[in-house]
Amino acid sequence: MSPPAGGARSPLKIGIAGAGFAAKFHLENFPDAHVEVAGVTSARPESRESFGAQHGLRVFRSVEEMLPAIDVLDICTPPASHHQYILAAASAGKHVIVEKPLTGFYGSPEKFGKRQMLEGVIDLGRRLLDAVNGSGVILGYAENFVYAPSVQKEREIVERSRAQILRLLGEESHNGSHSPVYGIWSAQGGGSLIAKGCHPLGAILYLKRKEGLMRHGHPIRPATVSARTHSITCIPGFEDRGFLRSKYQDTEDYALLHVTFDDGTLADVVASELVLGGIYDYIEVFANNHRARCRISPVSVIDVYNPKHDQFKDIYLVEKISSNEGWIPASAEEGWSLGYARELKNFVDCVRDHRQPESNLDLALDVTLSIYAGYVSAEEKGKEVEVPRL
Ligand SMILES: NC(=O)c1ccc[n+]([C@@H]2O[C@H](COP(=O)([O-])OP(=O)(O)OC[C@H]3O[C@@H](n4cnc5c(N)ncnc54)[C@H](O)[C@@H]3O)[C@@H](O)[C@H]2O)c1
Repeated sequence: MSPPAGGARSPLKIGIAGAGFAAKFHLENFPDAHVEVAGVTSARPESRESFGAQHGLRVFRSVEEMLPAIDVLDICTPPASHHQYILAAASAGKHVIVEKPLTGFYGSPEKFGKRQMLEGVIDLGRRLLDAVNGSGVILGYAENFVYAPSVQKEREIVERSRAQILRLLGEESHNGSHSPVYGIWSAQGGGSLIAKGCHPLGAILYLKRKEGLMRHGHPIRPATVSARTHSITCIPGFEDRGFLRSKYQDTEDYALLHVTFDDGTLADVVASELVLGGIYDYIEVFANNHRARCRISPVSVIDVYNPKHDQFKDIYLVEKISSNEGWIPASAEEGWSLGYARELKNFVDCVRDHRQPESNLDLALDVTLSIYAGYVSAEEKGKEVEVPRL
């Protein structure tokens, strides 16, 4: 195994797999101290070469070529490749950071039923768990909602006031991904439920885990789910005004997941591609002693009024806003408000101290299995389905 980088505190060498959107915000948000981004690789030579040149990084032709030169593999590639790189890193004794979703089932829903998909994900989950635990490496699951300042403040309130959370509500929605392969199950492993729903679900399962550890000494975990999925932009009467992405091949654009926990409490998650006005992310907590609204995006730091498009045409305001005119809930500092900087610092600290991060493989597996149990439920029009335990 790669050293936990203690002792003389040599910099932790990180290698980034993927040279797209997530790779860029990871690179921008790693802590400055004790970290050296030692290289980048990606499937396409042009993208890795230009990313490497732009950021002054050594370029590797493949993950396999990069592994001997690093301590931590930071996986920012599309979801279908996550599992192969986690397995490769663990068998080389390298620590792992992996973007959401952890993994999934990447086969056409025309060929595979949802129960088969769930079985496939259970098998893969076991392989990942064995590989990571067997090699003793640390895995950080890059669920930034867990690290958002609002969610971390709520975690503190729950722990210090010994709250019992009775009900949670969470959402991630916007007007549709720009990725050309979004909407194709075999590339994404599903639609809104996995690609977007994994974010609020991750934070919700995290808060219940923390409550359980504080109150009972063990995490409270999801027991059953019921789900519905819909393709609203595919209904014959949908009137396309050009503001929402449409034409999803075989994935849903709206999902609702109802979770019961093993202590009998509840959560509801909404995920969709049907929301205008920028990325819409929140968690609400209804506890026996308090109530909290955790805003993730937009957050009320600054509202900007722009009377004319051209003035702001080169200024980034907030993710997925389709117009820059009028009042805009601009993002002042996304590395902070979306939790990226705190997340990457936690992973780096945990690798150095050889301890589990706040967002780890156990949480990632509960999220993934809840989602695929949800797809089984949705296939059966919302029937209650048990969440498998590994
Ligand atoms: N946490 C968040 O807020 C957030 C936001 C966006 C994306 N993501 C996640 O980050 C990951 C990457 O998404 P993205 O938006 O950066 O995608 P992207 O398309 O912008 O970039 C993907 C990169 O991976 C490379 N790539 C593709 N297949 C590969 C393979 N098999 N091996 C090596 N390289 C490969 C591509 O060449 C490209 O450089 C996904 O898992 C996505 O869900 C997370």
